[in-house]
Amino acid sequence: MSSSDVLAARRRTMGQGTLFYDEPIHMVKGDGVWLYDDTGRRYMDCYNNVPCVGHCHPHVVNAMHQQAGLLNTHSRYLSKVVVDYSERLVALHDDPLATLQMVCSGTEAIELALRLARTFTKGSGIICSNATYHGNSHETFRMTVGPFEPEFRRVSFPDSYRPLEQNLSDEALCDRYLQEIEHAIASFAADGVPFAGMLFCSIFANEGLPKVPAGYMQKAAKLVRDAGGVVIFDEVQAGFCRTGTWWGYQVMNCAPDIAAMGKPMGAGYPTGGVAARADILDTFFRRSGYFNTMAATPLQAAVANAVLDVIETENLQSQVSKVGLHLKNKLATLVEQFEQVGDIRGHGLFLAIDWVTDKASRTPDREGAKAIVERLKKAGYLISNAGAHRNVLKVRPPLIFNQDHADEFFTAFETAVSETAR
Ligand SMILES: Cc1ncc(COP(=O)(O)O)c(C=O)c1O
Repeated sequence: MSSSDVLAARRRTMGQGTLFYDEPIHMVKGDGVWLYDDTGRRYMDCYNNVPCVGHCHPHVVNAMHQQAGLLNTHSRYLSKVVVDYSERLVALHDDPLATLQMVCSGTEAIELALRLARTFTKGSGIICSNATYHGNSHETFRMTVGPFEPEFRRVSFPDSYRPLEQNLSDEALCDRYLQEIEHAIASFAADGVPFAGMLFCSIFANEGLPKVPAGYMQKAAKLVRDAGGVVIFDEVQAGFCRTGTWWGYQVMNCAPDIAAMGKPMGAGYPTGGVAARADILDTFFRRSGYFNTMAATPLQAAVANAVLDVIETENLQSQVSKVGLHLKNKLATLVEQFEQVGDIRGHGLFLAIDWVTDKASRTPDREGAKAIVERLKKAGYLISNAGAHRNVLKVRPPLIFNQDHADEFFTAFETAVSETAR
């Protein structure tokens, strides 16, 4: 069956769902940082964060195989595999987070995090960012497309490169963004909607990895807690050493009351989790309950445990910091050279190149960004364009990406930029 036959069959049976690239790729195999299409062509994967320890890592595949051949049940039996994993993961979080509930996806993690926050506070009002994506369920998707009211109030995400107001100092800009949080809290009160808390991606990944004014997260968290709310951070993209720290909230120096995890947690085996303060979970189980048939299973725990093994034994946290900084520094050299390379941002192996029409206006150039993505794909390198304006080139390879990979990618990227930029 040719790729065009697969595409036609997909359209017939699966509808018009989004596919990457003008000519979608028919992938058949993955190995480490490499993906292979049906013709045997090899691509360097500089995009996927789910296979965080590399595609088909033998330790993860073996753990999955062993546990699937031994036992897989739901969570209403005792399982040492699950308890051991839960203790191990919780110990990797900052202090206030002392419990874990496992779920099957990032969406489910956010849904449960919202339930915990709302049950604990007896409120319903949630503050989120105005360019966010937290999942595909009715409630989570509302934060992206609405209806926002009455339970959601969206605030401008903090951004020093394309600030809400020009010519402000970093501190004044921070205060300007914080005012929106204060207004949102006040508007919940004015409308009689009891406040439950704030939900942000800890590094504003889908917003385009903006540079956040110093102290914003801590000050926002204080405003929220002072108003009786809880702080939820979405770690679905930022977690598991992506940023060079275990959690994105550590980049921001601000621990949440609840953290939602997903994507890399099971390296592609559907696994997510919610880490929370013990008093929040205790209150939740007194007032409500939770059961998820496919979650907190021995198979999930065995696979997720193997992911932690690899991150630790292969020292991926420090590798991510080192390789990420090396690549970021190289990318930064392009800002001087090319009018359309507006800004380089990011943390660890999650880097963003803000593609603009020109440096003076900083106008987002989505089409130009897409052209780079297509050009790189033709050369055998996979990235994407994302962010609030979809003009941000997103580089987010598996954590095993090493310096040689980074150098090879940079050469290809520089070529694509010089062929595309004016
Ligand atoms: C920040 C963030 N949160 C939550 C989700 C939802 O995760 P899932 O697709 O596993 O349900 C996504 C998915 O892209 C995401 O980017």
